[in-house]
Amino acid sequence: MPKTPERPRRVRMERNGPLLVEGPVEVIGDDGSVHVSRRFTVALCTCRRSRTYPWCDTSHRRRRNPAADSPSDRTPDTEGNA
Ligand code: FES
Repeated sequence: MPKTPERPRRVRMERNGPLLVEGPVEVIGDDGSVHVSRRFTVALCTCRRSRTYPWCDTSHRRRRNPAADSPSDRTPDTEGNA
């Protein structure tokens, strides 16, 4: 039986950023993939823009192009396609 930790594992929430989790951690992806990190603190991506998802690679700091997110903001081409 696993030993109970002396205190609960700490998870820190960053506004518009990652979840900082005390490691080591094992993350199970929604596709069943398993990701392991033995770092002291692990940054878990919450924006899904990371190229190293589920780990944060600081991509959340980049500005987003709102026009790319909203089809109604796009200029239609000559055939009326947005
Ligand atoms: S939260 Fe940092 S890249 Fe997604």
